[in-house]
Amino acid sequence: MASIELKNIVKIYADRKRGRELLTIDHVDLSVESNEFLCLLGPSGCGKSTLLNMIAGFETATEGEVLVAGKPVTRPGADRGMVFQQATLMPWLPVWDNVAFSLKLSGKNADERRAAAQPFIDMVKLTGFENHYPAELSGGMAQRVGIARALLLNPAVILMDEPFAALDAQTKIEMQEELVAIWQRHQGTVVFVTHSVDEALVLGTQVAVMTHRPGRIRELIKLDLPRPRDSTSPEFNEYKRHILALIREESALAKADMATA
Ligand SMILES: Nc1ncnc2c1ncn2[C@@H]1O[C@H](COP(=O)(O)OP(=O)(O)OP(=O)(O)O)[C@@H](O)[C@H]1O
Ligand SMILES: [Mg+2]
Repeated sequence: MASIELKNIVKIYADRKRGRELLTIDHVDLSVESNEFLCLLGPSGCGKSTLLNMIAGFETATEGEVLVAGKPVTRPGADRGMVFQQATLMPWLPVWDNVAFSLKLSGKNADERRAAAQPFIDMVKLTGFENHYPAELSGGMAQRVGIARALLLNPAVILMDEPFAALDAQTKIEMQEELVAIWQRHQGTVVFVTHSVDEALVLGTQVAVMTHRPGRIRELIKLDLPRPRDSTSPEFNEYKRHILALIREESALAKADMATA
């Protein structure tokens, strides 16, 4: 069964300052089966975060319908864990309580929350920083707190918006391996936004390339590559060449549009 279904999604934002409407998503149809790891690529401003926010329930579609496990999405829920493009932590809570925030909402006491948070803090390599506050963290560390918080929910659907963009190269590789291991272990659905073709090819079972704004799905590519992925293999590089060509074309079209706007 399809875990996530986007049916004919249109999103129009009101641009009040300029007195006009902005067509952001233009009839997107996309089904993501449970157990798929979909990577979403596309030029800046094409609507990737908007799509992810609609699946998460933070944003509504102007037209069309978003279904998760067959049910229309009307609000955020514990079945969907979201890692935002910018870490959104509670500044007044230490790392461990940010990670366990959802348990606070469900009435767990501090000892229970602290214990539940620890394995996820270790997983994102923040052991020793449990009692630090968000203002004392680097951007990459704050992002990892957001990842731990989303994973602690053990959600059926994991939504990630460029979660590893601010990490150093080594941590990024470790986090990518950890994420694939988690996905393989619990067989949920992942939708992962990235600007890196290499990252998409290391992680995904499929890659959706979006057009420049208004965003549509330009091409959905199923990846037939063994794991662990070998970025030096001819097959990997064949996909990479193809996807890079699509993105180059869309970025050029986006620039041309801006020049005439
Ligand atoms: N709340 C909002 N109000 C008005 N316009 C918005 C809003 N959120 C996004 N937009 C516009 O919608 C378009 C798509 O934005 P979105 O953040 O989804 O792009 P993106 O693909 O995630 O880009 P990036 O790769 O830079 O993160 C942009 O033109 C943006 O200006
Ligand atoms: Mg974005």
